[in-house]
Amino acid sequence: MSKKLIGSCIFGQSGGPTAVINASAYGVIRAALDAEEITHVYGAAHGIKGVLADKLYVMDEEDPKELELLLHTPSSELGSCRYKIADPEVDDTDYKRILEIFKKYDVRYFFYNGGNDSMDTCNKISRYMESVGYECRVMGVPKTIDNDLFGTDHCPGFASAAKYIATSCMEIHKDASVYDTPMISVVEIMGRHAGWLAASAALATEYGSGPDLIYLPETDFDMDKFIEDVKAVYERNQGNVMVAVSEGIHYADGSFVSEAKTSATDGFGHAQLGGLATLLANIIKERSGAKVRGIELSLLQRCGSHLASATDINEACGAGMEAVRQAVSGTTGKMVAFKRVMVDGKYTCEYELLPLTAVANYEKKVPVEWINETQNGLKHEFIDYVLPLIQGEPEIPREDSLPRYAHLKKVLAK
Ligand code: F6P
Repeated sequence: MSKKLIGSCIFGQSGGPTAVINASAYGVIRAALDAEEITHVYGAAHGIKGVLADKLYVMDEEDPKELELLLHTPSSELGSCRYKIADPEVDDTDYKRILEIFKKYDVRYFFYNGGNDSMDTCNKISRYMESVGYECRVMGVPKTIDNDLFGTDHCPGFASAAKYIATSCMEIHKDASVYDTPMISVVEIMGRHAGWLAASAALATEYGSGPDLIYLPETDFDMDKFIEDVKAVYERNQGNVMVAVSEGIHYADGSFVSEAKTSATDGFGHAQLGGLATLLANIIKERSGAKVRGIELSLLQRCGSHLASATDINEACGAGMEAVRQAVSGTTGKMVAFKRVMVDGKYTCEYELLPLTAVANYEKKVPVEWINETQNGLKHEFIDYVLPLIQGEPEIPREDSLPRYAHLKKVLAK
């Protein structure tokens, strides 16, 4: 048992939002408020940027009932960022400032909730604090709809987005088949380098109303083959074709098919993708003359808490609580990860700890063995993987039939 470390904590959210990142926030904040070792709980406004700007919200001042509503409030309630922190060996300006803020508020615990890039930030802060001998326990709490964090069976946020995508595809499939005239729909799904989300459209197909063709960034895209694939389904299905594509599909030379690839990049230099559905729809329209619709799920798929998976919410909250439990009992420099354990054929999830250094900057892709031979669909292994994760409907708090989200006071720390 390591010695008791008494002090305050900062929790921050980073990267793209999800339907359940606030459930992790609740897990961390609730457990931290209840932990006797933790004196004050601060929420950083816009992740690490809020620490640098000395903009911290006092969570101790929040109404516990409003905090609990975070479980069903989508997006990053404290605000997020895509801020690339320098290597401390190259430029330690940010780190000196972070240390100054940590000292000002006697911060001894730091919890950072995010994806690959956020784990990199978390890892760098952990290493820096250690190098200057400032005792602070740093823990990563996973999140990303992209499901591409290394070493964990899955990531909080993915299952809810997958459930949204599958349900939306089923609805689109129903809508797109009403007329007795040809109709081709192309649905564009997020996931920059990993195809987990686009693959989730296969759930819709599995349950009878989904895409005929699915393309992932795990394999190289070939436009001629794509057109041939569409043509074959068109002939087989009397002109009714539904296609799902990942925004990150690319040609053999690595260049994105998406024409919007050069429009913008974020703080980490990642291209902002999008516009692919329209691009492909136009190409198919030109060739087939059929009615074609390009549908970009875009932001709708990221914060669709009305279709959230109860399993996802519980696990996201649990990951936050586990991070606090571990930190107060002496753990530092780790990310909470999920381990799938099948008990009598039934899915269960256990927590494990991974060194931040092992997680930061690696991407986990859909195994190529789960993609069909013609590289335009998924095998049943993927369905077996994803199905347990999307289970359960949460009871969503409502007001006048609309979702009732958390209203936090966000009192600034002085
Ligand atoms: O968080 C991951 C992700 O949702 C990717 O799937 C997507 O490409 C990206 O974020 C979009 O990020 P932003 O909201 O910064 O444009």
